Amino acid sequence: MIKKIGVLTSGGDAPGMNAVIRGIVITGKQLGIEIFGIKDGFLGLYKNKIKKLKVSKVFDIINKGGTFLGSSRFPQFKKKKKRLIAIKNLQKRNIDALIIIGGDGSYAGAQKLNEMGISCISIPSTIDNDVVGTDYTIGYYTALETIVQSIDKIRDTSASHNRISIVEIMGRNCGDLTLLSSIASGCEFLVIPETKKSKEKLLVEIKKRIKKRKKHFVIAITENLYDIKFLAKYIEKKTNRETRATILGYIQRGGTPVVYDRILASRMAHYAVEILKDGFSGKCIGIKKEKIIHTDIKKSLKNKKKNSTRYWLNLSKKLF
Ligand code: F6P
Repeated sequence: MIKKIGVLTSGGDAPGMNAVIRGIVITGKQLGIEIFGIKDGFLGLYKNKIKKLKVSKVFDIINKGGTFLGSSRFPQFKKKKKRLIAIKNLQKRNIDALIIIGGDGSYAGAQKLNEMGISCISIPSTIDNDVVGTDYTIGYYTALETIVQSIDKIRDTSASHNRISIVEIMGRNCGDLTLLSSIASGCEFLVIPETKKSKEKLLVEIKKRIKKRKKHFVIAITENLYDIKFLAKYIEKKTNRETRATILGYIQRGGTPVVYDRILASRMAHYAVEILKDGFSGKCIGIKKEKIIHTDIKKSLKNKKKNSTRYWLNLSKKLF
């Protein structure tokens, strides 16, 4: 019977992480389980930064962006030596289980700890929506909202000055943020990792679009595909159209979580504590067709994200 659960947030912060922590602490209280907050992700677990979380600590955080527990990227956790120290820190306090909130990097850490005897459950929270085993990750819809609002503003300037505007959007290797924000903001052109092309090919397509369409338009591009400042200069030179590049950067990660993320976070948090109490471990929580489910972390780490990219791509083409 689980009596004590540790909770940590890992990897890039995402809006809604605080709502998950809140849901875990409140559910724990109702089920008679003590909840411990671990500072700064796996780094804090290794450094023994662990404290009991009282319900009063989470009263006012459901609407706050970021993660009040702090987060980090701690690649050294791949080393067994570091994980053994982390496990000792849990054992000192008789903490039986962990809930790990984050993206697929956090899933890998959870799986390793699970194999070493700590019952772990993962909750998907990253703006990238690149995690297997769930339709949506916590934070994705808030980031989409921020991106769409930003593109709307960029479009005003683009239209006023008859410019081509290139906007770089986060997502690491996943085009979901670019795709859906392009549809919602009416971008005329997009490039995602799944459809990466050379700058020369891109130019041919842009020229075709210029022939057909208005003088200004917005091109959305997922990060890490091009040097977009350089790309803007190249397009300007070859098309004779003023072209500007904007990297949205970290404004996409912060901010008040939208309602969808708060509800998703609360549902997943509650479910995670319940399945730990029922004896499950090594599972990741997901939402599929609006139902909260769990699958094996191991399986989700093996599979590649099967997303609905083709559907969204086709739709975006039809809407330009
Ligand atoms: O995973 C979220 C994310 O914001 C990605 O979109 C981006 O590639 C990465 O994190 C940036 O990471 P860091 O915060 O380490 O610069």
